[in-house]
Amino acid sequence: MSATLTVRRPELPPSLAAFKKLGNEELVRSIESAKAELGKSLVILGHHYQVDDVIRFADFTGDSFKLAREAADVEGCRWIVFCGVHFMAETADILTRPEVEVILPDLSAGCSMADMADRDSVRDAWQDLDSIVGADDILPVTYMNSTADLKAFCGRHGGIVCTSSNARAVLEWAWARKRRVLFFPDQHLGRNTAKAMGVPLDEMIVWDPHEELGGNDEAAIRKARIVLWKGHCSVHQMFLPEHIDAFRARDPEVRILVHPECRMEVVDKADVVGSTEGILKVLREAPAGSRWAVGTELHMVNRAAKAFPDKKIDFLSPMVCLCATMYRIDLPHLAWALDELRQGRVVNRIQVDEDTAHWARVALERMLAVK
Ligand code: 13P
Ligand code: SF4
Repeated sequence: MSATLTVRRPELPPSLAAFKKLGNEELVRSIESAKAELGKSLVILGHHYQVDDVIRFADFTGDSFKLAREAADVEGCRWIVFCGVHFMAETADILTRPEVEVILPDLSAGCSMADMADRDSVRDAWQDLDSIVGADDILPVTYMNSTADLKAFCGRHGGIVCTSSNARAVLEWAWARKRRVLFFPDQHLGRNTAKAMGVPLDEMIVWDPHEELGGNDEAAIRKARIVLWKGHCSVHQMFLPEHIDAFRARDPEVRILVHPECRMEVVDKADVVGSTEGILKVLREAPAGSRWAVGTELHMVNRAAKAFPDKKIDFLSPMVCLCATMYRIDLPHLAWALDELRQGRVVNRIQVDEDTAHWARVALERMLAVK
């Protein structure tokens, strides 16, 4: 007898279901009037990967670093509505005053890379490393794209957070204190940054949390300057070196601009590497008539192509590379969350418990102090 599996889709709250039935014009009107009513008590933060329809309502846009700074500096507001993903909203909650409530319009807007490292497997790796090289010799560094738990782990163990825009400065900070670094969850950002700083590849190891000693022997662990967690971004791993070759074969003058979450073989071939904010700055300041192929999320590249029409800006991959989770923050979710706020109800609040928030803040503040 075969068992029947019934997959139940979570029910939408009725008020959200009603917003899902509205057309774009009604949604836009609803968002505009809620924003006007809520005034300065509301701040909307938007990451560059958001779709055009949503990002146009953001009071501040930026990369993860800039948005963390905006959240830390924001004054006089009661609510932050974060049009980004879960780890960004957690960071905003950690960095804001306790009375500020942070809202993520769709709770399923996560980050697949952040999900690749969890507290228990990082703790197990740390214990293994401690038994071989001693925890006194190693410092944990987490990429911003990680849960608050892991940021707190770094805070408790003398470690620090980094983003794609300050990874080099943060690694300098870390190596000034300890001989080795455990870097999670993005192996590519860690490898690309360490390589650019002159660390040889044979002093980097990959730690696979599903393998004994991360898949390494003791000698390799003792030799390692940086232990790279086996995590990646499913969007950025779609860019391949052959995409760069194909662009250059068609146009030898084209400049290649990529995010450091791309694999090393892509970053090595690129002309410029930068965070999302960095990529936009390069494109903004590029001479008119210059031609670019850009390796990062599609919505942002398309928007840049429209914003800077005097340059030719193409998407690097022949495939569609979207951040599917960011994309979940759509007009109905934003309109719904704001309408609930207008009626005095906070939906989808992101709240980090006090102890975790304390230690995560320690690691984040170390990062914000690094120049
Ligand atoms: P940035 O900090 O460069 O915006 O990157 C965040 C991110 O998730 C890229 O995939
Ligand atoms: Fe996470 Fe990749 Fe999306 Fe960035 S693009 S939020 S790393 S899944």
